[in-house]
Formats: sequence, C-alpha cells, structure tokens
Amino acid sequence: MCGIYACLGDSEATNKVLAGLKRIEYRGYDSWGIATSKDGKLKLEKYVGKISKVKKISLDNSFFAIGHTRWATHGGVTKNNAHPHLAKNKSFALVQNGVLENYSELKKELQKDGYKFTTQTDTEVIVALIEQVCGENIEAEKLNRVIKKLTGRNTILILTKNGQVWAHRQGSPLIVGKDQKENYFFSSDLASISHDAKFYHVMENGELIHLDQKLTSNLRSKIVLQKISQKALEIDKGEYKHFMLKEIFEQPESLLKVIQNKQELLKKIANKIESSTNIYVVGAGSASYAANSISHQLRRVKDNVYHVPAYDYNDFAKSFKKNDLAIILSQSGETADTIEAVEFLKSKGVTIISVVNMPGSSLMQMADLAYPLDVGAEIGVASTKALTAHMLFGMALVDYLEKQNFSFLQEVEKFCQQLEIWLRKQKEEKKIQSLAKFLRRKNDLYILGRGQLLSSALEFALKVKEVSYLHAEGFSAGELKHGVIALIEKNTPVICLLASDQHREDMVSAAHEVQARGAKVIGIAMEKEDVFDYFIQLPNNEKFINLSTIVVAQLLTYELALIKKLDPDKPRNLAKSVTVK
Ligand code: F6R
Repeated sequence: MCGIYACLGDSEATNKVLAGLKRIEYRGYDSWGIATSKDGKLKLEKYVGKISKVKKISLDNSFFAIGHTRWATHGGVTKNNAHPHLAKNKSFALVQNGVLENYSELKKELQKDGYKFTTQTDTEVIVALIEQVCGENIEAEKLNRVIKKLTGRNTILILTKNGQVWAHRQGSPLIVGKDQKENYFFSSDLASISHDAKFYHVMENGELIHLDQKLTSNLRSKIVLQKISQKALEIDKGEYKHFMLKEIFEQPESLLKVIQNKQELLKKIANKIESSTNIYVVGAGSASYAANSISHQLRRVKDNVYHVPAYDYNDFAKSFKKNDLAIILSQSGETADTIEAVEFLKSKGVTIISVVNMPGSSLMQMADLAYPLDVGAEIGVASTKALTAHMLFGMALVDYLEKQNFSFLQEVEKFCQQLEIWLRKQKEEKKIQSLAKFLRRKNDLYILGRGQLLSSALEFALKVKEVSYLHAEGFSAGELKHGVIALIEKNTPVICLLASDQHREDMVSAAHEVQARGAKVIGIAMEKEDVFDYFIQLPNNEKFINLSTIVVAQLLTYELALIKKLDPDKPRNLAKSVTVK
C-alpha cells in the first residue's frame, strides 16, 4: 500500500514523477504529493484526492523529484498527513511505504526531547528521528543508527535539499532503475518503472542506496542492474474505458499464458507434491478463494491438503514440518499477511512454491521454486485475470497429477476460444446489464454454490462487495436450512451457481426453497431450470465452469459499479497491494 516514485537527473524529473505516480496510483489513492530539489531548496506540493485527474501541477520542473501516493494508515486523509514530509530544518523530504510499528513509543521519546509533531502520521516520527540524529547532513552511519530503531515493514526514500537521495528498503518493495542517459528512477513496482528505465534492481531487505548530486553512488560497484523486458509489463487501457473491463476481456488470452511453455515447471511442482507429506495452499482475499479452490481439487489426488488463509497461518503453525510443501498464491507478490506466513513456513523448513504475477516481487524472491503467472500487469484494484489464472494453475496441476500428460493445454485452448466468443456475444452482456439494473437498489445479495462452485460463490460475493458496494454473501447451499434461509424475504435476490455434477439436484432444490419464501432466483449455469427468474447462460464447457461463473461475477459487478456511478478501477478504501498488516 502506498506507492513511491522518484526521478533523478532528468530535466523533466517533476513531470516524470507526476506520470509515474499515476501509474502506481492503484497502490493507494487518498492523497499524494511531490517534492523537488532545486538550487539548494526543497519545494513540496500535496493534494487530497486522486492523481489520475490531475493534468499539471505548479511545481517547476527540476532534476530531482520524489513522489508518493498514499493509502492512509496512521492519521486521516488530509493534505497535512500526505507525503512527502519535510524536516523542520528543511534539509530533506521523506516518503515512506509501510508502517512504523513502534511509532508511539518513539514519538513519546521525541516529545520528551521537545519535538512538536504537526501531523498524525508514523512517518513524521521517522523524519524527526533522522533530523535529531543527522541534523542537516545525512550520513550512512547516522542514518543506519536511526533505521535500526525502526520496527515493522518500512521502506523510505529521502531527497535532500541539495539533490542527494537515500533509499532504504525494509519490507515494502522498492526498485531502482536507470535509463540509457544514466538518469535514475525509484518505484514501488517494476511495471511502472519500465516506462522510464531500461535496467533495474529490486532492492533487498535492509539495503541502503545513496545517490549524490552527480548520481554517483554505492550502487554501481555493488549492484548488477538487469535489463527490463518491457513487453511483459505494458500498462495501457487500450480501447477499454476501464482497466477492470480490459482485464476481464483479456482472460481468454491470459489463461493460456498461465500454462503455455511451462510444462517442465509444472512437472517439477507435481513431483514435489507427490513426495511431500502435507500440502498447504496459502493466499489472502481473492487469492485465498483461489487457494480454497485449488485445495478442493488437489484433494482428488493427494491426502493432507489444507487451505490456509494467509492471515490465519498461526492456526496451522504446529503442523508445519520439514517434508511439507506450501503453494503460495499472490498477484502482487507483496501482500504483508502472505509474506509473514511464508517467513514462518520457511523457518519451519517447509518448501515454498510461489505462484505470483508480479515479476521481481518479494514472494517470488522468497520461493524455493517460483511459478510466474505471466498474465501481464493487473491494474484494476479488484483482482480479475490473476484470480482466474491462479485457479487455472491449480487445475493444470491436478490434471497433470491425474493423467501424467499435458493434454490439459488443448482443453484450455478450446475453453479460451469459447470464452472469447461468449464475451463478445451481445446476448449475455445485455442480460447481465439488465440484471445489474434489477440489483442496483437492493441492499443484499446472496450467492449459493456447492462443491467446486463454493469458492466461485465466495469470490463472486467479494467482487460484488468491493466494486459495487452491494452487500453480498456467498454460502454453500448446504448451509441454507441451517440458518441462512432466515434472511430470505419477498424479492431478495439469490444467485445460484449450478454445474452439471452431483450437486445439481441439491442446488435446484435450494433454489425452489428460497423461491418459495419470496426470493428472486438468478440462475448462472450452462442449462436453464424452470425455477430461474433470471438466467445467465455460461459457455458450454463443464470442466471450466468454476472460471466462467467468476467471469459473470466480474462483468455483473462492473456493470453495477457503472450504474451506481462508481469507479470500478479504484473502489473506496482499498489499494491494490496490501503491504501492511
Ligand atoms: C480482491 C483482491 C484482494 C487480493 C488480496 C491478495 O479483488 O484483489 O482480495 O486478492 O489482497 O492480494 P495478492 O494476490 O496481491 O496477494
């Protein structure tokens, strides 16, 4: 959460930082700010609101600029609490990504020493400490002394009044890049820096980088910058109105990328699964629902498979053993809950397989074996193509374990063609739009699924909640008579996800039971049932029905957001990369 962007050396540095912040705005969008250094002075501008709407700012261009886009943790959303934060002696400005866990005890000490705080942020504590220890002149040894006092995941970037830069990574990611003209850039992610830089280095935890005014540093001697593969990291809305819609429509292509040319890697993972005692599938949010779906499927071929929501890893802590294997799912590769779970799993000797979308991310680096999702940057804050990619990865793995061949690839190719045609067909789109109109004034929505479609129902509800702010809950239809049915009254919308499997009959009965109590039944299936008041017909492919039901969820919630005049790419209170706990 929060994004950092900096440009050093380029005569257009301020504008480049403005553009860079727009690219990483998805990391936090309640306020933002830029600091520049010119002629021995720092200038700052800060704003509340979204940076994407801003065309120009009044700060002059400068050769040295740092910027920040914020997702508030400590202190409300105000201009004053926005970053960068300026030292009282005006000798440096600082941006931070993360949380200073011991901030209140450090703050009390500083207050005892007479420091008067002007913001509610934990960041000001770091600024005050640096000022106290370093005065006007930051030096590595003194700065390290301050850094040692800070607990939690904290990444900071400092610009001094004479154009020096200090960057320290602790937890939250920071990438340094260089263009062909030897200008330097810093960013919280690789996708955004790839627009300016040709080479990059992902800073390691605990690493401190110093660039002086001439941009000479401790960097060149120690760090090898790698070439960026620009193609994989393209960020562009293209013909689409929103990233979310683009990313939904990309799925017929992105699903293929998940498994194409990865057979050897998949085989290696399958071998590890076969030789491990316990398997844990770990993720948070949508990635946790994907983990649930993968665990459900893996149990067909392997005993002792557990779904572990990353934030609850402690519940399983006693079971983690050396011969165990953990499959870690994450789009960003930077989710704090998941990173903490992995740190613990590693400490117990569990083998880590990370299935991650963001190249160069922490969870990729921490893995014993990394499986890149390769679906391209996902910018819409709500996960779409990465979620279906994770689920497909699990299906490919289980299919290989069952058949010991890769015929699954042809099945995916067929499904992707069907999905492409289905997505472009006006018929279902119109039906989804009219369903969105029906749901727009509802207060609650219930989504029922069973078996493999339970994870899809849970993910369906999450998508609806976070993008369209309609209260939605996903349940197993098996729960209905044990309490949930009490919620049903006249015209309550209930979505039923139906596969043609052993659960179909029970699902149809559940639909009748809620309808008898006044519910409007919305069936999402390949074939219609009489009980449906609304019906969305899925592509005719039973094997991938867990994915196609989710595509309907994505489209429905997108349409609901549009009707309610909400921004589907940036739901309120959220950020794409949850780098704080
Ligand atoms: C929901 C969503 C979140 C993420 C979760 C984990 O649409 O995007 O629930 O799935 O925050 O993020 P990653 O996958 O980056 O670890």
